[in-house]
Amino acid sequence: MTHTHAFWLAGRQATGDDTLDVTSPWDGRLVGTASVPTEAQVEEAVAAAHAVRAEFAATPAHVRAAALEHVQRRLAERAEEIAGLISAENGKPLKWARGEVGRAVSVFRFATEEARRFNGGEAQRLDTDAGGAGRLALTRRFPRGAVLGIAPFNFPLNLCAHKVAPALAVGAPIILKPAPATPLSGLLLGELLAETDLPAGSWSVLPVPNDRMPALVRDERLPVISFTGSGPVGWSILDSAPRKHTTLELGGNGAAIVLADWSSDADLDWAATRIATFSNYQGGQSCISVQRVIADASVYDRLVPRIVAAVKEQVTGDPSNPATDVGPLVSEDAAKRVESWVGEAVDAGATLLTGGERDGATYAPTVLTDVPSDVQVSCEEVFGPVLTVTRAEDEAAAFAAANDSQYGLQAGVFTHDVRTAFRAHRELEVGGVIIGDVPSYRADQMPYGGTKQSGVGREGVRFAMDDYTYERVMVLTGLDL
Ligand code: SIN
Repeated sequence: MTHTHAFWLAGRQATGDDTLDVTSPWDGRLVGTASVPTEAQVEEAVAAAHAVRAEFAATPAHVRAAALEHVQRRLAERAEEIAGLISAENGKPLKWARGEVGRAVSVFRFATEEARRFNGGEAQRLDTDAGGAGRLALTRRFPRGAVLGIAPFNFPLNLCAHKVAPALAVGAPIILKPAPATPLSGLLLGELLAETDLPAGSWSVLPVPNDRMPALVRDERLPVISFTGSGPVGWSILDSAPRKHTTLELGGNGAAIVLADWSSDADLDWAATRIATFSNYQGGQSCISVQRVIADASVYDRLVPRIVAAVKEQVTGDPSNPATDVGPLVSEDAAKRVESWVGEAVDAGATLLTGGERDGATYAPTVLTDVPSDVQVSCEEVFGPVLTVTRAEDEAAAFAAANDSQYGLQAGVFTHDVRTAFRAHRELEVGGVIIGDVPSYRADQMPYGGTKQSGVGREGVRFAMDDYTYERVMVLTGLDL
């Protein structure tokens, strides 16, 4: 018997007249039931966020920092319980769920630190021209208004944290909408926020069904939208509210490029292990998982068997088992889609080196070579435990292959040469270039986001704080500068 999880309306618990069942992707058991807000309750939350915006923006930094620090501490104290919840509702193996909680703790820690130092103000003398004699410009940042944060299912806690923590750090009210498949971690975050002294109305966590989101997206009282999720939904948000300040974190088909100088046995073993781990972590359901390996021709033949061996070592199974590396995808439908895309590639001439099997929602870690460039596993985002390996004649060809994608989120480049690193940084059309590792590396304080179809804007605590605020200049006159 599971209880119904209330949602959080303007900082207090509430229930609506509908519910949403959350089931485990692994065994279909009921993990919990989330109460769904009515239209009137959503309206109440938005009105409260809008009404409190000036008061919240004026809250002293120490009040916001204390609240963020509290959430940081409580996440750490309840880490094991929260990891179990993430794993249950998402199907993510416990080891990765624990990692996700650790990252959310860091996000709130960074936000605590940034809240204390943000908006110190920048002074600029204006007496550089005669007309500016005795004048000084002082620029500070102010919240644009209330934020609508829309989070995906693949990091049910940490991508909620990336919406909420920067908003609270700058004093912007936030309405958080967790993913329908995984609302419970976001609701638990609300439990911790409710233990703070943040003003009523400054935050709400509302599991609003997707089909009711267009009205919220268009609501002018929510001038900032931060969305993480699929491309079609993200771009439709931008199209339907073009005058809002919108951040879109969309998909990717991350490339790991292994260059000629990354050639010792130890180099190739490390690359293969990292590639195998990060094409399969969370069943490949990360926008920066390794999907395309592009290997220099001089290392290709030694790298491929190592990757296959490392992929075969990935332990697939029950996500609640601490030894499991790869659990189920979010649903059986998702696994069937991956199965059909791999089938399409094999029918088009790809060679299946391992994997290629589905058992319910679980898809076996899969490696493909000789994959035509126009099939879906090459050019779309698989969001599953599948990687392709391609041979490139040299560095230029490898970079061109990596750029031959509609996406541009992150790329990994295995090289020891700092000059190559700088060339990669200049030439790869992505939001992040990771040298000596896979594209999947993300530190939560660094800017994160993409180019091309991967989205617009940046997350990463301080970068989101910039996005949620705008510069307002004050000119002081008659000063003895
Ligand atoms: C994402 O899937 O976009 C998030 C990846 C991460 O935070 O590691």
